[in-house]
Amino acid sequence: MQAREEAAKSFDTEAIAPALLAWYDANARRLPWRSLPGEERQDPYKVWLSEVMLQQTTVAAVGPYFAKFTERWPTVADLAAADDADVMAAWAGLGYYARARNLLACARAVAAMGGAFPDTEAALRELPGLGDYTAAAVAAIAFGRRAVVVDANVERVVARLFAIDEPLPAGKAAIRFAAGQVTPDERAGDFAQGMMDLGATICTARSPRCMLCPLREVCRGYAEGSPERLPVKAAKKAKPVRQGRAYWIEREGKVLLIKRPGRGMLGGMRALPDDGWSARGDGAEALEGQWRAGGIVRHGFTHFDLELQLMLSVQAQAVSLPEGEWWPVETIEAAGLPTVFAKAARLAIAERID
Ligand code: ADE
Repeated sequence: MQAREEAAKSFDTEAIAPALLAWYDANARRLPWRSLPGEERQDPYKVWLSEVMLQQTTVAAVGPYFAKFTERWPTVADLAAADDADVMAAWAGLGYYARARNLLACARAVAAMGGAFPDTEAALRELPGLGDYTAAAVAAIAFGRRAVVVDANVERVVARLFAIDEPLPAGKAAIRFAAGQVTPDERAGDFAQGMMDLGATICTARSPRCMLCPLREVCRGYAEGSPERLPVKAAKKAKPVRQGRAYWIEREGKVLLIKRPGRGMLGGMRALPDDGWSARGDGAEALEGQWRAGGIVRHGFTHFDLELQLMLSVQAQAVSLPEGEWWPVETIEAAGLPTVFAKAARLAIAERID
């Protein structure tokens, strides 16, 4: 208990950035999109690409996608010149597909500006798809600007450092303010990435390893005795369960794939035909024809869970097929289906009658 009382007494915000940066200098994770402390700054294109990919997605999941994108499109001009369908297919599996549409729009905007990313947070914020987080992260990491970068890891670390117990999301404003108080003028990018690494490796959600933490001495959450309870989150509403059907229509070793329309859910992605399910309701536009019911695919989206009944075509001619392309079944993994339809395709292949 004595150590905690000491910590409470010596709480000192000035000490946070130096302690964190010293820890980062010794412990920074080596990540493909990152230059380590003291190295030349990373290409802004790669910083931007990785930060867009890393939103809502783990470092481990992003690795192969970052490698694939930078190999295929090594510069922002290459990405700007890519076909929409190729980029959407390359993104398949990462989720939150609006990010991929915005990625292309942003690459094209930057290419139209001559191919160089703007180097201030305010100008970055004007680009398509760059929200507060991404603009701050790119300004700090790629350009060394002072910017306050708050992602979920930083949010957790700061909530604990300052013992902010106002439940999220309302507590976000207080956390942001506190993060601004401790962000240094110099090395804001290293500071942000250090906070992220600390959150990912030591100040973890369920069982923080405070004994290894470089900020323990100045952490109010630690001083108060139960940092793991922070940040407090408002009770989540139960997710609704939506029901839909997806159709596996196969002819001579090829399956009918459609392109999902516009900007809606999974918009612009290849998919199996379905009955119009959405976040708002069950599917109600059944395809005419004779079908054999296959298994059910379950998939969790952010705001709802989906139970997708697979329907397999059993006759040579279905009535009025939707417009689409016939894709060879043996290369279906290369079609770039979003995860829910990739699961349905795997199930169909396992269940179909040749
Ligand atoms: N998560 C989002 N951006 C990151 C970064 N630059 N380093 C580590 N984790 C991250």
